[in-house]
Amino acid sequence: MIAILGATGAEDLRLIRSEAEKVLLENCGDAVYFRGLIEASNACACDCLYCGIRKSNRTVRRFTLDEEDIVACARLTHESRYGSLVIQSGERNDAKFIDLVARCVKRIIAETRCPELPEGLGITLSLGQLPYVSYKKLFDAGAHRFLLRIETTNPELFAALHPVEQTFQSRLDSLAALRDIGYQVGTGVMIGLPGQTLADLADDILFFERHDIDMIGMGPFIPHPDTPLGTAEVLPVADRVRLSLLMIAAVRLKLKDVNIASTTALQALDPVGREKGLKFGANVMMPQITPTEVRKDYQLYPGKPCLDENALECRSCLEARIALAGRKIGYNQWGDSRHALARGRGR
Ligand code: 5AD
Repeated sequence: MIAILGATGAEDLRLIRSEAEKVLLENCGDAVYFRGLIEASNACACDCLYCGIRKSNRTVRRFTLDEEDIVACARLTHESRYGSLVIQSGERNDAKFIDLVARCVKRIIAETRCPELPEGLGITLSLGQLPYVSYKKLFDAGAHRFLLRIETTNPELFAALHPVEQTFQSRLDSLAALRDIGYQVGTGVMIGLPGQTLADLADDILFFERHDIDMIGMGPFIPHPDTPLGTAEVLPVADRVRLSLLMIAAVRLKLKDVNIASTTALQALDPVGREKGLKFGANVMMPQITPTEVRKDYQLYPGKPCLDENALECRSCLEARIALAGRKIGYNQWGDSRHALARGRGR
């Protein structure tokens, strides 16, 4: 894996890419699944040293969508025939917010049932670390997948990226809680972090395997100027993009049947980064559904694309991009990973 991650020659890159694509097509088919992405709130109790919406960043205008806005985003997802959505937010465990999300989950499922989707939209949550009871409440409301990145599996590097009260162990405990409750579990890492080695990234892949992870979301680290890591030294953009693509390929080659997202951060560094991600073995995309007015307030890193587009523009743009990558869109399907289905975790 280290050799794959360190590849630079054109011929090596071509071989790795085509092998990863082959493994993807054999194990997952050619469908790309869409998850409409709703950024429900940028309020956050955490202070991760890399993140643009960390609580110490006073330049951010904080927002929380209300129930009607969130349900309207879900309706748009459904009308776009995406089959699934992700509700993402900063980390906050106030009862008011958890209750809001639980109510939305129930309403979204009830209001999007149709002949093509008898159980309504598939719902993934990405709300950070919460107590077991909150995870359980949201699962009981009907959410069935949860994304919580480990960020890096090197504990020293993790400690360098987070305040002391945010521990590596508690992140592991949260991932274990999600699995115990019955969620399909997604995790992932940032790629090209200051001080991160290729061996660290290879270890990350082994971690995904050991923890029987169903879904992976990874993207290049992009320094945000309003954070302590804003001036950190990082690999040049082209190298970070290449490493991110090789990481997708290495995960696909090793884990075969998991879902892998081609993330927006890749597109922030390369206008066709997400299409390249698909060609290197990814099979999930997350089109923006967040209302355009608040998109600019949810910038984890600078250069986030599609800030001025509306959801319909994002839809037609993505459809064209998938066709260019020679793939088809898995409309009106939940698109659970084959890995989860094989273990009886899908529906
Ligand atoms: N660059 C790249 N990714 C980032 N994230 C947060 N800040 C950055 C950044 N500066 C990622 C983290 C987090 C996810 C929601 O966004 O991996 O888990």
